[in-house]
Amino acid sequence: MNTIREEVRIFCPATVANVNCGFDALGFALEGIGDEMVIRKVKTPGVTITKITGEELPMEAHKNVAGVSGLAMLEGINANFGIEIEIHKKIRAGSGIGSSSASAAGAVFGINQLLENPLDNLALTNYAMKGEALASGNEHADNVAPCVYGGTTLITGYNPLRIIALPPMDSIYVGILHPHIKIATKEARAILPKEVSLANAITQAQNLASFVASLYEWDKQLFADSLQDVLVEPHRKQLIPHFDTIKRISKEHNCIAFGISGSGPSLFSFAFAKADIDTYLSTSKAFYEEQGLAVDAYSSRISEHGCRVISP
Ligand code: HSE
Repeated sequence: MNTIREEVRIFCPATVANVNCGFDALGFALEGIGDEMVIRKVKTPGVTITKITGEELPMEAHKNVAGVSGLAMLEGINANFGIEIEIHKKIRAGSGIGSSSASAAGAVFGINQLLENPLDNLALTNYAMKGEALASGNEHADNVAPCVYGGTTLITGYNPLRIIALPPMDSIYVGILHPHIKIATKEARAILPKEVSLANAITQAQNLASFVASLYEWDKQLFADSLQDVLVEPHRKQLIPHFDTIKRISKEHNCIAFGISGSGPSLFSFAFAKADIDTYLSTSKAFYEEQGLAVDAYSSRISEHGCRVISP
């Protein structure tokens, strides 16, 4: 055995990106939904994926998002050791709630833990983005940032990467509906227009600015009004069966926000009352099942915690 230090077992939360008004910029961590990973420091250089459960994913490090972000970090810190990674997937790949990001963020978070945390969250997110790029074809951090930081994060710049941890949305309940189809982020990005109208760019800038202001002042009306997507949803909603019907059901159950989680197919919604989220989810689930489409429904909260050690 070449293990020279104790391993860490970690939990890596699922995340919702975009949040209507912040394409590639906004994201939050979910409570109770996430993967587990085991990261082990070994003498053999590089990254070895030793086990994956729950999903069929590549075992070769350079083809696996956890492997790619782990390799980027080992190279960046000039490591004289290697790591072994076990990935226990609970977040379905291609579900739109940050499956690849959880693996990418978990790998770098775990290495940092084994080194007694020399790197800050911004540096970890930078390395995790390398893995995310493998999955989506583009370095974006709106899932990996909340997975590392917890809570709600805003990417304020990519070159260089800059991130703000936003104030908590304490009184918000979150519904996640996952219709069982797969959407590849690369494909969902490919269908987006390269240019947008000035009018839509202004509206989206107003929405994102209003969202951020609403959190600092906790202005519930401004918060609800800001959660609109005029840029991306009109192009992506066709990928999601019965999108408009589910949106209508969410409104009928007092949800204050509804939209595509990341690149989908999961749909997120917000409500001020848990009962509203629960009845919205059960009604939508029943509707999807009547249409012959299997669906998972989760009621959750926004987690203030990102990746965390669960043992030892
Ligand atoms: N912002 C990204 C997108 C999130 O919507 O393409 C998915 O990884």
